[in-house]
Amino acid sequence: MTAYSRAGADTFVLALPKGRILQEAMPLLKEAGIVPEAEFDNEASRQLRFRTSDPRLEIIRVRSFDVATFVAFGAAHLGIAGNDVLLEFDYPEIYAPVDLKIGKCRLAVAEPVSMSASDDPERWSHIRVATKYPHVTQTHFAARGVQAECIKLSGAMELAPTLGLAGRIVDLVSSGATLKANNLVEVEHIADVTSRLVVNRTALKTYPEEIGGWIEQLRRAVDAD
Ligand code: PRP
Repeated sequence: MTAYSRAGADTFVLALPKGRILQEAMPLLKEAGIVPEAEFDNEASRQLRFRTSDPRLEIIRVRSFDVATFVAFGAAHLGIAGNDVLLEFDYPEIYAPVDLKIGKCRLAVAEPVSMSASDDPERWSHIRVATKYPHVTQTHFAARGVQAECIKLSGAMELAPTLGLAGRIVDLVSSGATLKANNLVEVEHIADVTSRLVVNRTALKTYPEEIGGWIEQLRRAVDAD
């Protein structure tokens, strides 16, 4: 039976994203010696902070974009975040030392199949895009001289073209099933995405032994995979 600690003043916080990345991250964390208390697996639970088998470390479960915010402001010392989220925020306080090689997908531009037959992305000069990633989208298109007017959504971007909100979307594509189900097709690749171990730079400088230790444990877990 594992002994679980109660968070104290000297407890460190690891922010994990809700959703599918979590399933892929758990075996790596286990390999690194970090096992959450049983309540963590109870999907009906409203608990947001969890003890772990490491008495110095607790876990919080937040939305993927919020992992970066908690870590950037030092509210969490460590986290797991996709480089899509890191690109969007570009927080200088975040250091991403380990590519965990999970959550593989890509950030892409998509449009209706009916539009793509006669469309040539090379001829775009101004486009309207629905996305969770306005910063990445604008930067990507500005680099090739296209003005992108972004409409920020938090999810279900795929609805935007058929309902006339925006002609194109920028979103994560993994299997491609969501695009297909909504009669959309990928027309431009923006970035390959994987999840990274992220740490707050100041926290790493202040607690090099503890945070550096977890970085090494996770690096070894990835190499052993
Ligand atoms: C992501 C993304 C797409 C979908 C793509 O959403 O926003 O909707 O996955 O995956 P596919 O290519 O395998 O169909 P996710 O399910 O992570 O939920 P979210 O909308 O809350 O981000």
